Amino acid sequence: MKNLILLGGPGVGKGTQAKMLAEKYSIPQISTGDILRAEIKSDSELGKQAAGYMKRGDLVPDDLILAMIEKRLQEDDTANGFILDGFPRTIPQAEGLDSILARLERRLDGVVDIEVPYEKLVQRITSRWGCSECGADFNSLSSPPQVVETCDHCGGRLQQRPDDKEETVRQRLLVYREKTAPLIDYYKRKSLLKIVDGDKPVESVFAAVCNTLI
Ligand code: AP5
Repeated sequence: MKNLILLGGPGVGKGTQAKMLAEKYSIPQISTGDILRAEIKSDSELGKQAAGYMKRGDLVPDDLILAMIEKRLQEDDTANGFILDGFPRTIPQAEGLDSILARLERRLDGVVDIEVPYEKLVQRITSRWGCSECGADFNSLSSPPQVVETCDHCGGRLQQRPDDKEETVRQRLLVYREKTAPLIDYYKRKSLLKIVDGDKPVESVFAAVCNTLI
C-alpha cells in the first residue's frame, strides 16, 4: 500500500508527478486544488466560499479543506493507497490529517518534498497553459503545444489559471514560505520525509521520486 503526500511550493511539479505516480501504482491523485476548481466550476456552496481565497493566492480555511479530505479518503478507490497533492498545507491541516487517518485506521507511508528554486517557479507557473476542454497541461517553456494556444490532443483552446498571474504567484510563494514550509520539519520529525530535486527534466524527477518509495 502507498499512502503518500507530495509536498512543495506552487509549480514544483506536484501535479505532474502525482499523475505519473497514480498511473504507475494505480492509486488516485487527490489534488485539493483540482477539487476546489471543480467546486468553483459547478458553482457549489464550497466553490463560492473558496473562490475569493484562491483568486488572491491565499489558502482556503483549514476546516473546509479537512472536511473535504475526510470525505474523499472514505471513497473506495483509496483502499490501496492515495497520493495527496497540495494537501496538507498548514500544521493544523497536517494534525487534522493525522486524526483522520487514525479514525480510518490507516497511516502515511511517505512524504516527498520536491524542491525547485523560487525564481524558476514564477517562470514555470506563468508559462503554464491548460486545455479548457480536456484539461491537458502544456508549458510554453518546457512542453509547448504545436499550435499556439491550441490543444495538441483535442484542438481545444488553451487558457491560463486565474491564479497564475505573476503577482498572484508571488503571493502564493509567500504563503507557502509562511504556512506550508514548516511541514518539512513536521514530517522530518516523524521520519517520513524524503527530498527530491525538482529542477531536472520531468522523467528524471519521476525516477528520483520513485526511488524514494522503494
Ligand atoms: P493548487 O492547485 O494545489 O496549486 P499549487 O500548489 O500552487 O500548485 P500548482 O498546481 O500551481 O503546481 P504543481 O506543483 O502541481 O506543479 P505542476 O505539476 O502543475 O492550489 C491552488 C490554490 O487552491 C491555492 O493557492 C489555495 O488557494 C487553494 N488550495 C489548494 N489546496 C489547498 C489546501 N490544502 N489548503 C488551503 N487552500 C488550498 O507544474 C507546473 C508547471 O511546470 C506545468 O506547466 C508543468 O508542465 C511544468 N513542469 C512540471 N515539472 C517540470 C519539470 N521537471 N521541468 C520543467 N517544467 C515542469
